Amino acid sequence: MTDAEMINHLWTHKTQDHPHLPDEAMLFERGEGIYVWNKEGRRFIDAFAGLAVVNVGHGRPEIAEAVRAQTSTLAYYPTTRQFSNRPAAELAAKLAQITPGDLKYSLFAVSGSEANERSIQIARHYWLKKGRPKKYKVIALQRGYHGATIGTLEVCGIPELFQPYEPLAWPGFVKSPAPYPLRDRAQGSDEQIVRRCADMLADAVRKEDPETVAAIILEPCLSSGGIIIPPLGWLERVRDICDELEVLMIADEVITGFGRTGKWFAVEHESVVPDLLSVAKGITSGYIPLSASIAHSRIADVFAGDSTEENVHPNTYCGHPVACAAALANIGIMEREGLIENSARMGERLQRAIEARVGGLPIVGEVRGRGLLMAVDFVDPQNKDQPLARDLVGSLNMRGWKRGVIPFARGSVLRLAPPLCIDSAQVDELASVICETIEELQDEVSRTRKDRVAV
Ligand SMILES: Cc1ncc(COP(=O)(O)O)c(C=O)c1O
Repeated sequence: MTDAEMINHLWTHKTQDHPHLPDEAMLFERGEGIYVWNKEGRRFIDAFAGLAVVNVGHGRPEIAEAVRAQTSTLAYYPTTRQFSNRPAAELAAKLAQITPGDLKYSLFAVSGSEANERSIQIARHYWLKKGRPKKYKVIALQRGYHGATIGTLEVCGIPELFQPYEPLAWPGFVKSPAPYPLRDRAQGSDEQIVRRCADMLADAVRKEDPETVAAIILEPCLSSGGIIIPPLGWLERVRDICDELEVLMIADEVITGFGRTGKWFAVEHESVVPDLLSVAKGITSGYIPLSASIAHSRIADVFAGDSTEENVHPNTYCGHPVACAAALANIGIMEREGLIENSARMGERLQRAIEARVGGLPIVGEVRGRGLLMAVDFVDPQNKDQPLARDLVGSLNMRGWKRGVIPFARGSVLRLAPPLCIDSAQVDELASVICETIEELQDEVSRTRKDRVAV
């Protein structure tokens, strides 16, 4: 069977972001640091770290060795029915140490979607334990993304993702707008935008009746929705609303956790401590799938340590020892190499370089970023309130590819989230290529317009 015939069996084949490329060119075989090599042996800068996953970079022998050692010592033992295993316990203790505030108890799962499922389930069980059984609803944000299970699609705010499942929708999962300064500028200053969105969020909870609402779930930066970065002050307002209306705050840090935004966790930009923190991706940098819902002690402590009563149901691979060993090795690399600080420094350098060179182009609405989570948001130069046509923005994927860089352009937004081990020379190279692709697109847009005017 040829590679093309094999690839044809993958479902990925059914959605094409790069319709001009043969499937085999998109088959990747090797990675090292910020680079990946495809089947043809071409080297690319992995400018989105896979799916904003590979935080420590590709090809780390320390993680491979930790996986090998744990696999040969004890490849599997559950963390259910009071059993545990050493790497799971060590990792839970490590997470209690590196997360902010009193986030102390980890319930492990496999994917980011499941981490959010667990957070929502813990919230529900918490209110049952507190004797308030009517609290079950979860309020989320428009443009938010929390996973690909039916449960997490209930709290998804991206219409093309949740609409196919609307016939299955449960009542009581409403979505409120998130602050999106580029699009909300008409509403005033950052502070006014935050206040307005916070008021709408509080109203949404009140309208549902706080006595029926278990939690608000939100991403500190809305990643799949277009790397939307609400102004600082937003999370503090959400925390206030949760406290005032007695609902739990679930921070979904599946993408933003483990240094992506220049702090261990993005909530730390505002010194906010959520009740539940969902993490995945960067916890192992993708070497092995793993996720966790990390609970604040005031939540976890309502579940007695000696109870025999069932509460949140874990899955088979909860606390998988090999995945937890990979996570410990991964976090060790982050600490030893100062990757969190590097993310803050390199993110600033990347954003400054892109802003300086293309920030003033008519198609560029905004260059924004926090740490190494960055976006260029494009606007229609004739009508700057409107996004640039999505096929034009999408063409940046191919323009990058031709120059040996893999960014992620979709909707009106070009997204960048390279591995956190990127150095200054590599940042400069990445910025230069990305700017070239944007300048090329600008030329094409300007030329097309002139041609249209000439006709
Ligand atoms: C913020 C956020 N939450 C949850 C998820 C779902 O994670 P997974 O795909 O591992 O289920 C993602 C995935 O991209 C995400 O970005």
